[in-house]
Amino acid sequence: MKLTTIIVSLVIATAAFADNNHQLDINTVKPGAAIPSTLYGIFLEDINFAADGGLYAEMVKNRSFEYPQHLMGWKTYGDVTIRDDGPFDRNPHYVRLSPAGHPRRMTALENEGYFGVSVEEGKAYSLSFWARCPNAEDGDTSVVRIELFDYDPNSDRQDFASKTIAVSGSAWKKYHVKITSPKTSPKAALRLILMAVSQKKPKVITDLEHISMFPVDTWKGREGGMRRDLAQALYDLHPGVFRFPGGCIVEGTDLATRYQWKNTIGPVENRPLNENRWQFERSHRYYADYWQSLGLGFFEYFQLCEDFGCEPLPVLSCGLACQFQNTRHMKEAHVPLDSLQSYIQDAIDLVEFANGDTSSTWGRKRAEMGHPKPFNLKYIAIGNEQWDEQQEPLYSERFRLFVNAMRKACPNIKIIGSMGPNADGWKYDLLKPRMREMKANLVDEHFYKPEQWFLSQAARYDNYDRRGPKIFAGEYACHGKGKKFNRYESAICEAAFMTGIERNADVVRMATYAPLFAHVEGWQWRPDLIWFDNLHSVRTTSYYVQQLFSLYKGTRVLQLREGGRIVAGLDGQDSLYASAVIDDNQKAVIVKVVNAGTKPQQITLNLQGKKKQNMTTIERITLLSNEMDADNSLQQPGKIIPHHETEEFTPSAAKEYTMEAKSFSVFIIK
Ligand code: AHR
Repeated sequence: MKLTTIIVSLVIATAAFADNNHQLDINTVKPGAAIPSTLYGIFLEDINFAADGGLYAEMVKNRSFEYPQHLMGWKTYGDVTIRDDGPFDRNPHYVRLSPAGHPRRMTALENEGYFGVSVEEGKAYSLSFWARCPNAEDGDTSVVRIELFDYDPNSDRQDFASKTIAVSGSAWKKYHVKITSPKTSPKAALRLILMAVSQKKPKVITDLEHISMFPVDTWKGREGGMRRDLAQALYDLHPGVFRFPGGCIVEGTDLATRYQWKNTIGPVENRPLNENRWQFERSHRYYADYWQSLGLGFFEYFQLCEDFGCEPLPVLSCGLACQFQNTRHMKEAHVPLDSLQSYIQDAIDLVEFANGDTSSTWGRKRAEMGHPKPFNLKYIAIGNEQWDEQQEPLYSERFRLFVNAMRKACPNIKIIGSMGPNADGWKYDLLKPRMREMKANLVDEHFYKPEQWFLSQAARYDNYDRRGPKIFAGEYACHGKGKKFNRYESAICEAAFMTGIERNADVVRMATYAPLFAHVEGWQWRPDLIWFDNLHSVRTTSYYVQQLFSLYKGTRVLQLREGGRIVAGLDGQDSLYASAVIDDNQKAVIVKVVNAGTKPQQITLNLQGKKKQNMTTIERITLLSNEMDADNSLQQPGKIIPHHETEEFTPSAAKEYTMEAKSFSVFIIK
């Protein structure tokens, strides 16, 4: 039998359909490029209190007293002083609590947490601190009372849970206690009171350092770990790649405050505090108390990648502090080329930390942290949004030195270069040929653009030069024109654009929406993928778009055409966008269709090369709303969520589907 005769169309009589029926022809005979496991991923930067105050579940702000205002986040009573000769050399400050001179007078500390210390009824919290009684003699102890309290006007008492810890001896020791909260209090605080001191020596003093409290119920139950609901939201995206730690914080406001991965490993007590530039980046939203504890450091990051089953993609400083904030004349913001070696070595050492065997210097440190097995790192990005000046190849000359050294030291690592802050314009144009010439494996393109840009760029990669480098769309989100907030219509535009990513999966190898998280009380930048307060989180419509593409990414691209043309909102296509894949594992053809227009459209799916009688079910998952400016919120987390319908496939029926205005559907044909 000839091939043409076995090609059976699902469409029996197209003439029977309305004039405006869009017949999408999907060629299942010749699958195209393999879809990389990395195609859809996540990008985490500590912006919007995403890490400290967010995913990293620490509840005590300024736990090590290292903020420049050493008591920021704390209130004190009585005789509390700051000292700087503590047990952790990189975080030397701690508090000294001395009896306040009268038995009735209290010496105590209160911590306000990140937007409150928020606790839930029946949940246990693990409090710890390092302490000593420096002037203790044999048998001298002090007692520290720990209270959770709030200002509930209906309650007689402020404190609603408490425990005591006896501190003994003049040597620093770590103390732990678990407290279960009898009630939910979103805006509680933590109080530590110096109680009884030794009878023998009433002037015994107590030093406290690294006062920390975490929920016991963290992601995977790890002590000092990640917030369970937020990590679960990431897991549920099934990310293929995980970019970290930025974003702008990679570069730093200046070189001294750039992100340095070596400071983020080892015991958390000794990870030095770093400035978080999102503290002051946005002049309409300042947060003086936003610092990086680095508690979610590179070990925890690699561990999360392992949990999620995705590829790590670290971004490292290229030796240029943020180019937006430092002009090329500010030489102190640029590492001179002949001094770049320590930066390059940091990149090479990171590969050893991730992949080296346990006898290597950095591999041993990984093993000491509890992970002798390598993390199998394959990618590193050098620089975030960097560019060359017309007069000086500021970025590319540094990138070249990294590439040359890394190709020798770690030849299996794929190196990702920056394409500047925009996906077009002179900065982009200058870098493009240079990245190709230097054989960057991938280049990192960023776009925060309005609706029309996302729609018009759905065909962006169809004519992309296949000679490379490959594309990593490392930061993108639709910023509604005049509407920079999470909104349904923006999510639809992102879906339309993503059909172009999927169709071109041979060149676009990774794509990560940005930013990932935002605290409702602490954001600097929106829209964002996941919003949260201290106790709850909500997945936005953009999240569901990402999730649907990721869950149904398939294994190979299928050619999808309407009248021989790609479907990317072209003239006559009535604002329809579409892509198709086959999933060899699920034995399914998956078609994604977006109607970005304001009128419903009729479509038919014409699976060329599939026998109707071999098809069993069609599942359709749809995201639909008629409120363009609406999105899910903590108050209404399920306002706009994907709806599933499954129907038996009837071999005799050719089905016409309505794509409602501003809707996104995934069709899974088994
Ligand atoms: O995602 C927010 C910021 O946008 C990133 O830090 C930066 O890379 C970009 O400008």
